[in-house]
Amino acid sequence: MAKVAVLGYGTVGSGVVEVLDTNAQEVTNSAGEALEVKYILDLRDFPGDKHEAQVVHDINVILDDPEVEVICETMGGIEPAFSFEKSALERGKSVCTSNKELVAAHGPELVELAKQNGVSYLFEASVGGGIPVLRSLNDSLKHEKVDSITGILNGTTNYILTKMDKEGLGFATVLKKAQEKGYAERNPEADVEGYDACRKIAILASLMSGKHVNYEDIYTEGISKISIEDFAYARKMGMAIKLLGMCKRNQNGFFTMVSPFMIPLENPLANVNGVFNAINIHGNMLGDVMFYGKGAGKNATASAVVADVIDIVKHKGKHIDVNMKSEKAELSPKDNAVRSFFVRVPKDQTDKAKEIFGSKIEMVDGGEENHEFAFVTDMISEKDFEERLRKLDCVKGYIRLY
Ligand code: HSE
Repeated sequence: MAKVAVLGYGTVGSGVVEVLDTNAQEVTNSAGEALEVKYILDLRDFPGDKHEAQVVHDINVILDDPEVEVICETMGGIEPAFSFEKSALERGKSVCTSNKELVAAHGPELVELAKQNGVSYLFEASVGGGIPVLRSLNDSLKHEKVDSITGILNGTTNYILTKMDKEGLGFATVLKKAQEKGYAERNPEADVEGYDACRKIAILASLMSGKHVNYEDIYTEGISKISIEDFAYARKMGMAIKLLGMCKRNQNGFFTMVSPFMIPLENPLANVNGVFNAINIHGNMLGDVMFYGKGAGKNATASAVVADVIDIVKHKGKHIDVNMKSEKAELSPKDNAVRSFFVRVPKDQTDKAKEIFGSKIEMVDGGEENHEFAFVTDMISEKDFEERLRKLDCVKGYIRLY
């Protein structure tokens, strides 16, 4: 019987306990022995809860108990989660977590600490909720040279963009509805400004490079400037608008960014709707492989945490290798990335736009009723685009093309 402690009895933590209870037989079959939740750490008491007797308020009770082999950190945030995880690893306990903020900031350091102590540090649930993408990268795809990872990594923004597209509602209206339904936080900034997706692509990019991609070095744009008009154009162009996190290998190292993109409808990512996430990985031998599923939610995320617990119990006494080191990955600047851009300007800027962006622009129908001129640029660098855009007055909006 392997003893487990859960830190934080919130949505994900209580989900972990529920998965272990509900699927006890399957978990035992998979791990090769039964798992028992010996402690649940939380500031609160849970009178009447099935597991109220396991609730403790002092981390040292867990750290000092030699029987506890695995710790599931589902508290979120940097502190005290970081200190608790470090202490656990130093005391020879393996740790698994759903805490993307912490993994993005300190993942390589924690992986190395786990290695030094002969235990494991796993974080499947930190990216894509229940989607088993990190284990696949770290296992089935380990022999591949991964050229690119592109994903819809945030359920809240994908829900908002899908509703805007399908129901023709504006960003603010859909956000309000999403908050009422509990799909968006009361403070939605981390999701809508792309910060959550940024942490997730930082984790994926770190695993792809085998080094550390710092989330602070990733150019990040959110979806708050996307309008209903943008969707009307996108439909005419046979495109969807999605918030993508991407990491591409290039000659100099890696390029990574988070931004809304127009994607051709033929691309499977264009058809990922609602709160679902999807991650496309391109390997040099394998080609494209896409992972799709619930990127958030109690049971899906908890299921991924439990998968890590099982992996750890199956590899008792061993360190599970995770391809992530503290050395910084070489990132190429956004300025050099080359692509086309969709741009909308007021109608009276038509001639100026044509002059600035040259004869190769493609005009997009549909601006007449909005008294605007919309076009797609030729392939140009981000830097060139920014410089040209600055010469125009009152740009109504632009979106990158994938
Ligand atoms: N806020 C996140 C999302 C939760 O919407 O995807 C899962 O990380």
